[in-house]
Order: sequence, then structure tokens, then C-alpha cells
Amino acid sequence: QTIHLADYAAYSHLVDSVHLTFRLSPDATRVISRIVFRPNPDAPAQPFFLHGEGLRLISASIDGAPVTPTLTETGLTCDVPDGPFVWETEVEIAPAGNTALEGLYMSNGMYCTQCEAEGFRKITYYPDRPDVMSIFTVRIEGAEPVLLSNGNPVAQGAGFAEWHDPWPKPAYLFALVAGELLAHPGEFTTQSGRKVTLNIWVRPGDEDKCAFGMEALKASMRWDEQVYGREYDLDIFNIVAVDDFNMGAMENKGLNIFNSSCVLASPETSTDANFERIEAIIAHEYFHNWTGNRITCRDWFQLCLKEGLTVYRDSQFTSDVRSAPVKRIEDVIQLRARQFREDNGPLAHPVRPESFVEINNFYTATVYEKGAELIGMLKTLVGDADYARALDLYFERHDGQACTIEDWLKVFEDATGRDLGQFKRWYAQAGTPRLSVTDEFADGRYTLHFSQQTPPTPGQDQKDPRVIPIAVGLLNPNGDEVLPTTVLEMTQASQSFSFDGLATRPIPSILRNFSAPVILERATSNAERAFLLAHDTDPFNRWEAGRALARDGLIRMILEGAAPDTAFLEALQAVARDDSLDPAFRALAMGLPSQDDLAQTLFDMGHTPDPQAIWQALETLKQAMAQHMQDLLPRLYAQYQIEEAYRPDATQTGARALANTALALLSRLDGGAQAQRQYDSAGNMTQQLAAYGCLLTVGKGTAATTAFYEQWKHDRLVIDKWFSLQIACADPAEAVDVTRALTKHPDFTMKNPNRFRATLGALTASPAGFHQATGAGYALLADWLIRLDPLNPQTTARMCSAFETWRRYDAGRQGLIKAQLDRILSTPNLSRDTAEMLGRIRGA
Ligand code: ARG
Ligand code: ZN
Repeated sequence: QTIHLADYAAYSHLVDSVHLTFRLSPDATRVISRIVFRPNPDAPAQPFFLHGEGLRLISASIDGAPVTPTLTETGLTCDVPDGPFVWETEVEIAPAGNTALEGLYMSNGMYCTQCEAEGFRKITYYPDRPDVMSIFTVRIEGAEPVLLSNGNPVAQGAGFAEWHDPWPKPAYLFALVAGELLAHPGEFTTQSGRKVTLNIWVRPGDEDKCAFGMEALKASMRWDEQVYGREYDLDIFNIVAVDDFNMGAMENKGLNIFNSSCVLASPETSTDANFERIEAIIAHEYFHNWTGNRITCRDWFQLCLKEGLTVYRDSQFTSDVRSAPVKRIEDVIQLRARQFREDNGPLAHPVRPESFVEINNFYTATVYEKGAELIGMLKTLVGDADYARALDLYFERHDGQACTIEDWLKVFEDATGRDLGQFKRWYAQAGTPRLSVTDEFADGRYTLHFSQQTPPTPGQDQKDPRVIPIAVGLLNPNGDEVLPTTVLEMTQASQSFSFDGLATRPIPSILRNFSAPVILERATSNAERAFLLAHDTDPFNRWEAGRALARDGLIRMILEGAAPDTAFLEALQAVARDDSLDPAFRALAMGLPSQDDLAQTLFDMGHTPDPQAIWQALETLKQAMAQHMQDLLPRLYAQYQIEEAYRPDATQTGARALANTALALLSRLDGGAQAQRQYDSAGNMTQQLAAYGCLLTVGKGTAATTAFYEQWKHDRLVIDKWFSLQIACADPAEAVDVTRALTKHPDFTMKNPNRFRATLGALTASPAGFHQATGAGYALLADWLIRLDPLNPQTTARMCSAFETWRRYDAGRQGLIKAQLDRILSTPNLSRDTAEMLGRIRGA
């Protein structure tokens, strides 16, 4: 059954208050609700309906008199009074048997919840929709020493606790946690002087992995006050780490619940990349308190209203506390790898979708990451000052409301006087625009001719031109900048922009800082790219020039059997040895386009990508890089070793990234000797894991595999790394066998989403291994998706996107994939989640 945005109707009632009592028991938890309803004067006439799924109804009453509601598949209906009334029910649920990890479930003996998007209906009967907001009071009865819910604690005693949340909220922000937990405490004083108690709650044994998260939380709270003027609004803020969690984390009001992999950190067990990600996710969930919770979404089609904005805010935060250019480059790498891939395949959908079957399938890179790009473009178009005024107006006008993208854009129109009608197309039209550009120079006038075109996407054949902010700069051939960054506002299908008074033909730097999520198409020479890599003042475009050089060279290697491009190797070496450049930037510049990126590039050029040939070209190029830089690499490696105590900050992270990039290349020359020394002496996980990866890559990883496991078998998050790295670094011909063998390891379990992703997800992230011509990779993934679906539909559906690129490949592979898609689709009782995903991927 498909839900449409156009069918939105307000709910029949308003909810004045909700009182919930939980009597916890693994197999028979009782949930007693008391809900005060009042007719909604603004709603169309409709029968009274409450959502409810998998609930055993014990009793129901209205104003104290027992009633017998009509139960349906998805909830209940009942005759209700015309005026206000008090609705009471008691239901029974079984959290211990809840393997879907949605609603109330158990993880390692701890009770926890995940309600977004529609999990609350598995807890009790309720209007489970984001536009129904109410004030919740929760009483938890259980033997567990720690009993948590949203809001402020109001009472606590032997075997019970009571919580009251004064801020109206939709049910998806409800949370409950109960278990044997330890707190890492903290405190924060808001800018207006209110003291807030902070806690990170973990299972015993994890208490030494909370300090970093706590500091990240405080930094986020301060940043939101300073940059957005947003203060925290409760007496307490709790974070809980949970091992079994479908996603990264959840912003429940005052009680954020985190996948333990997204909050627990220590130098010995976490990499620099883990630290950066944890800091960003803590910020993200905290920032939701205003963009998501105080102002929420009217319906789930508006998901990008909170997610796009909050991702944008967390990226601003990371840019401020670390390096802005490095963060931008990292974000664009991810955007292209995940969102462009989605936008150019069968799962393409608008940032604000217009229909869905299962909303959980729309927590996508398009809604999140492209959604964030739209905020960034809006800010570029209106300027920083107007952006700040618009945001102030947004918070002032919509606090306490459930809003739409129309509300959001109206705030910008009112604050700036701009018409955003055309900008709105970014929310409605799927697909990545191709922006092609040619240039011309005559009589001191330089002209850029742009044209935009978006290919059709499923259900959307016609695309209208969008407004595209194109940041450009112009350089003289001597390296001087003649035009500093200027934003061109493109609104037509084709449009030209001229620059006068130039003495010589300039070299253009186009789409600086990646000012719009488009694919820039421009025929340029290698010489020009090498020039920009050496001279551009925009760090993003410097990196981009190097990336384009690498990509072109790789494509020639793949298609024509060309040798690695010496111009590229020279240009890269010049960057690598330039000590005036940020080491983190140099490490990024030394990275190569991914296998998937190259496959899409080849496909866009009209070729059928061969995963094995792509992998081989990358190997050959890495070997050539190693040889070309053989004198530089030991110097770089030695120069960026760190003597000081470990800190996960931008400076040390950059130094380690560069040293480890050098180590990876060095290993191809010394057979892993240096990597083995680093492995043996590593004092932190960044060094240990990098060395282990090098050893695996050069085929010398056997001893480290045993040693690593023995050292870390007690730590599930580290063992996830052990699972995934062996697959990521396996020879593609062996990747499927390695994966299969690991699924037979006693520590493998499909019930833990992290472990499942570390294993099967690692295979799908390794294209040459997954797309093995025999189809063994497809069959192995399909076997596991079929097994996991009855237990955990959400994680199963998510992993189906491994097949989303199938139309790129040759007829043989397409046939093999199609057979697996059909095999999964014909499985009896397939979940709605997985059926929708596979249906869309397979197409008609
Ligand atoms: N709102 C959460 C976040 O972005 C994600 C929750 C996703 N949950 C889901 N079932 N799809 O931080
Ligand atoms: Zn979010």
C-alpha cells in the first residue's frame, strides 16, 4: 500500500496529555496508557483510529467505562464521544522476542526503544504520526537499577521511576531505557546560566570509553548557543549506548540512544575516523533538539526538513572544530559515493519524496546528504547574514510546531524578499543535474557558457531547470588569482557569464567548494588540471583537479591499456612533498577514485564496466605511485610519526593519515616490513588497524589476523573491524570465500546489525569481490538477506541497495543478479521493507 503526500489530512483529535506506565518483563511487558483526547477543530471528519501493531489488548476504556474497539491489521477503531475524553488501555508486548529492533526491545539484557519513524505503534495504541504532539509523563516499574525516559526525573524509588517531559512531542521521540548501566557524568551551564546534568550511560566495562563523547556533547551545546542562539531546554540530557541498533543514533527528547559504535571511543579501540564520526553524530543528535524536536515534521514526506538541516548543522560544527576544507572534501567523497549513486539508479527519489510504501526505506543519502546540500546552496544564494535572519525567524515562528518544506522556504522568502519558487524544484525533482561548460576568450572578455540537464529518473521523465549557485574564480597562467570566488546564479537551461578587462586568457576554477550537488562536465587538458592542482586558491578545487587527473588516467588505463600517467604522478608527488600543505589535505589528494566511482564514470561514458579490470587498474596505479615516490615515502612516513600522547584532533589525525597513506604505498615496495613494525609497536587503533590493513593487502596478514583476534576478542566493536577489514583487503577472487568463512565464525551473528554489516556489508563495499563473474557474491548476499528478513526487515532492506547498480553491468552479471532478486522476492512473507526495495531496484 502506497502512501502519498497529496493525501495528507490532519488527525481527528488533539492530544492534551499522555500518561504511560510500563511494567517491565522480557516476555510480557504491560503498557498502561491514559491519553486525553479533544476533537481537532481543523481536521476533516474521519473515524477515530489509533495505530497499533503486534499488541495484545488487555483492556480499553473511555472516561472509565470499558469499551470494545474493533481491531484491524494496523490498529483499532472505536466509537468515541463528540467532545473531549480520556482513553485508557492496557496492552502486553514481548520485548525479548523483538528482533526487528523497532519499538521496545532488548539488547544484552537491557530494555531500549527505537520509535522513529513508526515504532511507537508497537508499544501501545496511539496516533503514531509526527503532527500529533503531546506532553508525556512516564512511569517505569522494573527491577533494573537504571530506569530512564524523556524529560526531567520527577520521582524515583525502589523498583520505579517517573519522568515528565514538559515539551510537546510526537510519539517518534519517545524513549525508554532500563538496565544495569553506569553513568559517565558531566555538567553544562547554558548561556543563560541554567545547570544541566549530563550522562552517558553504558554497560559495565565501557565506562572508560565515554570521555570523548562527553566533551563532544559539551562542545556541541556551546556551539549551538554561539552559532544558532539555541539553548538546551531540560534539566538533564542523557545518552545511552546500545549494542544492537539499526541505525547510527536517535534524537529522542532528552534521551538520545546511540549505536554503541557511534559513541564509545578510546585511543586503543577507535580510529581517528571513528573519533571524528562520533563527534559529528553526537553533535547531530544534540542539534536535533531544536531542528527536529522543538520544530518537527508535519508528516514523513518532510523528513529532510529536520535531517537535511541537521546534517548541514553538524557539518558546519565539524568544519568549525576541525578543518573546513578537509571536511568539505570528505563530505563530497561520501556524497558522490552514496547519493550520486542513488540518484543515478533505480532508487532515485526527490529530497522530499511524494510517495512511499515503507518510510524506513527513505532514510537515505538523498534525504540526508543531498538535503544538507540544499541548505548549503540556500545559504550561498542568500548570504550568511540573511541565512542567520531566516533561521532566527524559523525558530521564532515555528517553535512547537510540526512543519513542512513550504514553511521552511517561506521563512527564507519573508526574511530575504526572495522568490524561492524555482529553488523548490531541488526538493521535488530527483536526479543529479549535469552541468556542462565551455569557455571563450576574445578582446579581454572571458565567457563561460553553462548548460544544465538532468536525466530522467523513475516516475519523472521531464526536468525543469534549477537555480544553481556556481562559485567560480579565475587564475592567470602565472598562478595569480584575477577573480576571487564569485557566485554565479544560474537559473536558465543554458546561460552565459562574462568577465571583462582581462589581459590574458584565464584558467577557470569552477564550482569552488562544490557549491552545488551537480556533475560538472568540461573538456579540459591534463596541463590545466595539473595547474589547478598546483595553484588554485580553493582547496576543494585543488583536490578536485587531482581527482579528475587520476580518474582520466585510470579510465585510459582501463579502456586503452595505457600506462599510468606520468603527469599525474609528477603532480601528485609535488603535492605530497609540499610541507606547506595540511597533511590531511595531502592524504586526501593521494587517495584515488573508488572502484564504484570508476564503474559509474565508465557507464556514463557508454561503456560496460568490468569490476576486475577496474580493480586491476587501481592496483597498477598504486604500484606506480609507490615506485614513483619511493624516495619520498620513507621521508614522509618518518616525518609524520607522532611522539606526543595520542589526541584525536585534526592536527594529529592529519599527520597519521599522511603517514599511513605513505605506509600503504611503502608496503607495496617492502613487502610489508614497515607495516609489520608499526603493527608490533602500535599504541593506538589508528596505527594498528592501518598496519593490519597493509599486511592483509600485501598478503602477509595471517599472523596479524590471529594476534588481532586474540588481543581484542573481548571487544565487539574492535572485532567488527576485524571482520570487515579481512574482507575489504582480501584479493577480489577470494573475497566471497573469506566472507563465507567469516559467517561461520563463532562470533558471527546476524542478529547484531553492526556485525552483519561488518561482514556482508564489507563484501558489498568491495565491488571486484562482490561482482565476481560466477555470481557467488550475489548468491551469498541473497542467502543472508533471505535469512535476516524475518528477523530484521530494516537492516535487510537497507542492504538490498548493494544491488542498485546492477543495470551498469554486462548481460551475464545482470542475469545472475536478476535471478537473485527474483529468488528473494519470491520468498514467502517477505517484509514490506524488503519487498519495496527490491521491487524498485528490479523495476518492471
Ligand atoms: N533520526 C535519526 C537520525 O538521523 C535516525 C533514525 C532513523 N530510524 C529509522 N528507523 N529509519 O539521527
Ligand atoms: Zn538526524
